[in-house]
Amino acid sequence: MIPLVDVKAQYAPLIPELKECFAEVLESGRFIFGPEVEAFEHESATYLDVPHAIGVANGTDALVLSLEAMGIGSGDEVICPSFTFYATSEAIARAGATPVFADIDPVSLNLDPADVAARITTRTKAIMPVHLFGRPAPLAELASLGLPLIEDAAQAFGAAGVASTGVCSTFSFFPTKNLFALGDGGLVACRDDEVAERVRMLRFHGSRDKQTFELVGTNSRLDAIHAAALRVFLPRLAGWNEGRRLGAARYAELGLGDVVEIPVDEPGHVYHMYVVRTQDRARISAALKEAGIASASYYVTPLHLQPAMRYLGYGPGSLPETERAAAENLALPLWGCIGADVQEQVVATVLASAGVAAA
Ligand SMILES: Cc1ncc(COP(=O)(O)O)c(C=O)c1O
Repeated sequence: MIPLVDVKAQYAPLIPELKECFAEVLESGRFIFGPEVEAFEHESATYLDVPHAIGVANGTDALVLSLEAMGIGSGDEVICPSFTFYATSEAIARAGATPVFADIDPVSLNLDPADVAARITTRTKAIMPVHLFGRPAPLAELASLGLPLIEDAAQAFGAAGVASTGVCSTFSFFPTKNLFALGDGGLVACRDDEVAERVRMLRFHGSRDKQTFELVGTNSRLDAIHAAALRVFLPRLAGWNEGRRLGAARYAELGLGDVVEIPVDEPGHVYHMYVVRTQDRARISAALKEAGIASASYYVTPLHLQPAMRYLGYGPGSLPETERAAAENLALPLWGCIGADVQEQVVATVLASAGVAAA
């Protein structure tokens, strides 16, 4: 079976190094906060070129804590895409604010700045672009609308420009992400000293000193064991992202674009997922399954049509580009060290399903 993402193939050569790091954590007896977490926060802040990076328990908490630290809550609106993972709008609702869905650009699949502009009201407090599938969202155009940005960068660690503009930018280290932990983990990258201080407090019950509780926060921490693994992976990330870019280029060279719409490349896209578009999705995915090749369709019911978001009043047809992308997208296997042989099989199967012989 060819998987959609082979995370183990990426980390297998690093297992001896990982074991050494885990042994050090065991010897230290520090599992919560401590030197590994601090070192990873420092190293990731340097990598992302931000003044603050704060480890949290997962990417969903990273979003909620960012919103809360920025003082966004009841009565406020935050504009976000509907073609994304549910956590994006869920976090806005959890913070007590109202998600406002904007449509996407059909080529980039990221927020369409013109549609965002049309949805700004006096209640809009922030825009939350998602760097979807590893492609940088149009940050400069969105920032020119004059509202603070919170970048949902869960799928885009290492992509160009990510975390350059948002007051907060959030990351998930779920094990399929470009930079991953060995379980759940997350990070808030922050460009504002006061907001960063509040995120730090909120992740530990609203306290600075573990004695006085100034805010109603939560318990949301990145564990030392995950920080230790992340410190092993971070120096490899650029190589893995380059491997993903090479894999994407190879799919194009192999002629995949003859039968499906392949993603338009741009510098700095880190291909968290390799997502093509086709109106023949059912047939192609069935042919792949038959050949033992995994594929997946994302956000088939986009967020504005999800049961929990019905109270917002959107219906079918409210976001046409989002709904088209939901109906047509198909993710094909890609990871940081995918081999040409694997990709040749994938392309031959897709071409054969359309009656075209592989080159
Ligand atoms: C775009 C997006 N936002 C938020 C999240 C939430 O991250 P986590 O699963 O770590 O809570 C994810 C990942 O699953 C995601 O893809």
